[in-house]
Amino acid sequence: MNSIRLELGKAQQFLNAEAINSVQNRVHAAQQALEECTCPGNDFLGWMHLPSSITPEFLGEIKACAQVLRENCDTIVVAGIGGSYLGARAVIEALGNQFEWLTNDGKNPIILFAGNNIGEDYLYELCEYLKGRKFGVINISKSGTTTETALAFRLLKKQCEEQRGKDVARKVIVAVTDAKRGAARTTADKEGYTSFIIPDNVGGRFSVLTPVGLLPIACAGFDVDALVKGAQDMEAQCGSDDNIATQYAVVRNALYEAGKKIEILVNFQPKLHYMNEWWKQLYGESEGKDGKGIFPAAVDFTTDLHSMGQWIQEGERTIFETVISVENAKHTLLFPHDDENLDGLNFLEGKRVDEVNKMAELGTQLAHVDGGVPNMRLVMPELNEYYLGQLIYFFERACGVSGLLLDVNPFNQPGVEAYKKNMFALLGKPGYEAESEAIKARIN
Ligand code: PA5
Repeated sequence: MNSIRLELGKAQQFLNAEAINSVQNRVHAAQQALEECTCPGNDFLGWMHLPSSITPEFLGEIKACAQVLRENCDTIVVAGIGGSYLGARAVIEALGNQFEWLTNDGKNPIILFAGNNIGEDYLYELCEYLKGRKFGVINISKSGTTTETALAFRLLKKQCEEQRGKDVARKVIVAVTDAKRGAARTTADKEGYTSFIIPDNVGGRFSVLTPVGLLPIACAGFDVDALVKGAQDMEAQCGSDDNIATQYAVVRNALYEAGKKIEILVNFQPKLHYMNEWWKQLYGESEGKDGKGIFPAAVDFTTDLHSMGQWIQEGERTIFETVISVENAKHTLLFPHDDENLDGLNFLEGKRVDEVNKMAELGTQLAHVDGGVPNMRLVMPELNEYYLGQLIYFFERACGVSGLLLDVNPFNQPGVEAYKKNMFALLGKPGYEAESEAIKARIN
């Protein structure tokens, strides 16, 4: 099997050997700390050997549950936020037909996402859309108490029960949550929903290869065996100190130490937009702490060359780019001849649209490197389940190593609590009386 590849030359040219070596020298310790579970956050290392621990029996359970949902639902709403939805959405959008949900032929259920915002209009419009539809819900929350998800789930559960009856609702609502704790677990047990467990030692943003990601991906009709196989093969590649994940971690940290504080993840395929979003969360929550961390930004090219291109080419020189490049498009679309050639584009006649895209990619890389932007490329032979599985594990593994090279705990997210505490105090949640008083005094 082929593998995704990492090209570093156009980033390394911005670094001297000393800068790279000073980071490189810390790789062995980081790899060892991960493998031997001695690093900070070592109770959240379940993702490390997760792919190789996945059995055909477990995948069979996921596929059986997905089949029940597929047979009984024309629409499946995945309720979850952060690590409890981004990975599934990234894979589903990368593999899906971008227009299928508009022209849906009924072969696959429509997969929608909720519980990742508190937009009243969003939820109202979703509930309106679901009226009369045979919909099901996958309620995903590790803590089982996340407000955004719980709020959406309460609405969806009620509507599902009213529309489809309690018995069918029980069959088409599935919970993915902690084994024992949280309201999502209590509800699932009380209602008798089918449920899957998120392992204690796998944090949200590292959980895409648990039922958190696998169940929605299987519901959408994609091959979870191939996804897991890709991740397993990448896990096997990443055991030694020198592998593409450690190489990526080293170069991005060396760039950071050289003043490149912002990493921009770039794709040239609109289908990868949510892969960017998943990556932003993985790296943002893992590394942004203790007053440190590369800021993870993301753009979709060529679209954003017409919005962010100017800044990237000529703005403050504190950025570097990592480009996900897909070698082969799935479909073939040739540029047609036009007798009149009014647009002057006959020079492209007979070329694949993807060839034009590739020249945009190459031209952009050369321009940005000329403009002082270090550029790494991650090359995927094609967009399929197998290479996405590789990509996911590659980024997870590199993130663990990179966070340790940065000397932070990559597996906690203490900063996420600050807004929640204020929101609960402002809303008068029971148990927050003192905070409520303090915050009211502050805003008055
Ligand atoms: O990575 C994380 O831990 C977070 O982004 C969580 O996934 C997110 O906050 C959702 O949490 P939960 O699954 O508990 O609802």
